[in-house]
Amino acid sequence: MNREDFPILDSGIIYFDNGATTMKPKSVIDSVVDYYSNYTANAHRGDYDSSLKVDEEYEKVRTKVRNLINASRDEEIIYTSGTTESLNMVVFGYMKKVLKEGDEVLLTKSEHASNLLPWMVLQEEIGIVIKYIPLDDNYCLTIDNVKGMISSRTKVISIAHITNVIGDVRNIEEIGKICSEHNILLVVDAAQSIGHIKVDVQAANIAFLGFSAHKMLGPTGIGVLYGRYDLLQELEPLKFGGGMNAFFEEDSRYELKEIPWKFEAGTQNIAGVIGMGKAIDYIQNIGLEKIHEYELKLKKFAVSKLSEIPNIIIYNKDTPSGILTFNIDKVFSQDTAVFLNRFGISIRSGNHCAKILKDEIGITNTCRASFYLYNNEEEIMKLAAVLKRQDEIYDNIV
Ligand code: ALA
Repeated sequence: MNREDFPILDSGIIYFDNGATTMKPKSVIDSVVDYYSNYTANAHRGDYDSSLKVDEEYEKVRTKVRNLINASRDEEIIYTSGTTESLNMVVFGYMKKVLKEGDEVLLTKSEHASNLLPWMVLQEEIGIVIKYIPLDDNYCLTIDNVKGMISSRTKVISIAHITNVIGDVRNIEEIGKICSEHNILLVVDAAQSIGHIKVDVQAANIAFLGFSAHKMLGPTGIGVLYGRYDLLQELEPLKFGGGMNAFFEEDSRYELKEIPWKFEAGTQNIAGVIGMGKAIDYIQNIGLEKIHEYELKLKKFAVSKLSEIPNIIIYNKDTPSGILTFNIDKVFSQDTAVFLNRFGISIRSGNHCAKILKDEIGITNTCRASFYLYNNEEEIMKLAAVLKRQDEIYDNIV
């Protein structure tokens, strides 16, 4: 779909590592080049034409993000460097302040490091209790298992919308409903879902949500923290400096700016924000439903092709996303990835930053092919053709 919009694909690469980062369409690249070529200036600091244009473009993107996730106001959108920073802000800027020793936070073992490590550090710092909601036999999260883990001490459920290895899509609307019945805050890591399926923060009663632009056709180093407005009143900035203060005096009195600017200290990634805006336009123009449907078609096709090949183990045949996780039996996943690279095919191998998922699937390393809108069946046929030559793997990589 729309391959001609992605200049990098002209090189002939077959890129199946979209869970790690995505390619950029020309409109995104051009918008970044345009900012650097034609109106470079800082944001919210100048009274001259280019600076005023920057202010306008920078704030316009906030509205685009708000519409994308159906937030109720622009102020709920905070620019960050990506999902990792967003989730760290939630844990150390908000949860550290409101949670107490013994309060329970529910996670799953298939979360990414960004949604596990900050909680582990908070556990060490203030004694919260981390509990893992059990996954089912297909490593997916069920509503019954969510309900079964809730106790009177449960204060937070923090989960990925789509997980990055298994690719299961969590029913965040239903989980959000359960959270509101029990007065629990729902935190969502939307890194793998934002450019793939519709996210509606109000429909799912989400307290905080984070995502990165680079996994949705945008630039690297820019992302978003969404926070419900009433909760943002209590969020403490983790960074202090220029652009976020209203005043400060030599006697150390100071006042911070309003939300969201008090959370955006220092010169921001302005080119990134502008590029993210174009990425949102691009995705909205195609439509998330169409993108999702297309990815599911690709995954189904890949499952059918790879299932025909001897010795291929697929771990997530039925999860409804474009993520396909597999191994060649008894072959180290990195060896498979290096072998595929010899044929110009990029996949990811290893534990994919979900380091405790191994306890569930009983294997440390897997290969992951993650599809996006510009991939096609012809590329998947090439992947299958190379995997069929698995007997040559060690001749080729040593
Ligand atoms: N979180 C990214 C991935 O899953 C890097 O590959």
